[in-house]
Amino acid sequence: MSFFIAGTGGALPEQSVTNETLSTFLDTSDEWIRSRTGIGERRICIQEDLLSLATKAAQTALAQSGVPAAELDLILCATVQGDYIIPSLACQIQREIGAGCPAFDLNAACTGFVYALDVAAAYFARGYNHILVVAADAMSRQVDWRERSTCVLFGDGAGAVVLSKGEGLLSIKLTASGNLDILKVRGREGNCPFLAPDSRPAYLEMQGQELYRFAVGCMAEDVKAVLAMAGVEEREVTFLLAHQANRRILEAARQRLGIDEDKYVSNIHKYGNTSAASIPLLLHELVDEGRLSRGDLLVLTAFGGGLTSGAAVIRY
Ligand code: ACO
Repeated sequence: MSFFIAGTGGALPEQSVTNETLSTFLDTSDEWIRSRTGIGERRICIQEDLLSLATKAAQTALAQSGVPAAELDLILCATVQGDYIIPSLACQIQREIGAGCPAFDLNAACTGFVYALDVAAAYFARGYNHILVVAADAMSRQVDWRERSTCVLFGDGAGAVVLSKGEGLLSIKLTASGNLDILKVRGREGNCPFLAPDSRPAYLEMQGQELYRFAVGCMAEDVKAVLAMAGVEEREVTFLLAHQANRRILEAARQRLGIDEDKYVSNIHKYGNTSAASIPLLLHELVDEGRLSRGDLLVLTAFGGGLTSGAAVIRY
């Protein structure tokens, strides 16, 4: 017994920041960003905190599912970092929506949503009935806004799904390959009087080309693996929902897999890379636009810091 997706939700900050706006304080241009990444604008938390976005996404998913918050058995939140380190973002969401179940955060960077689905599946195997999975990240707080090679890539957002007991998860695969060179954000330092101050940067640092190669390779490999595990052919797939990191990565992976262009959905031009939130945001957009029908086959694929990757085949 696993789960089916009973409801979806998404929330984005009000403030849109265009490539033109970035080029007023960075040595960059709309042409460079668009041609290298596919990104035209991104949303940035200014009035909102991450909790308000996560709560809005969760409430939308709950309303769509018809599951009352009091009937949730678990809340999982995939995030790199919530508004607070303690309490977890999941515990704060639990309070906001009026649930009474256990709640915890997990961090698998941009792969967090797929990791959370696998954790949820394990709890369904234990007999749980309803689980809320929220993925929320504010990467605008992690990047160095003086660093044009990274800050232009990211945006903030939250997505959510309510999962209920069922048979929708056909296969899932996770990978991790510990690496501190390719993508990292150093933790906060504190002021322990027994330690010398650490002058290393505490912003996101990334080796873009290494990550590019990793992403294309693992997406193609992971998707092939989960399709084979599920016994599903590429032609049967309704939509490929890939982590929105860079349009060129997605296009290269899609071509390697031989999946048709019309099965590939994208919102990177509007929101940039929203980290763990990107796949549930895509999913919610599809539902909201009436493009998904029950029984459709979805392939999810993500990669991120860790390095981590994950993919799943889900019957909607
Ligand atoms: N505007 C203008 N020029 C820029 C910018 C910018 N915003 N950023 C970098 N450049 C310059 C560089 O300084 C460099 O100049 P130089 O040749 O004079 O030294 C030149 O552009 C080329 O830089 P590269 O880094 O080689 O550019 P590349 O074509 O590799 O594109 C990019 C960079 C877009 C980051 C690409 O490597 C990529 O997408 N990698 C994967 C990134 C990714 O997926 N990140 C997130 C995944 S993990 C997660 O989601 C948390």
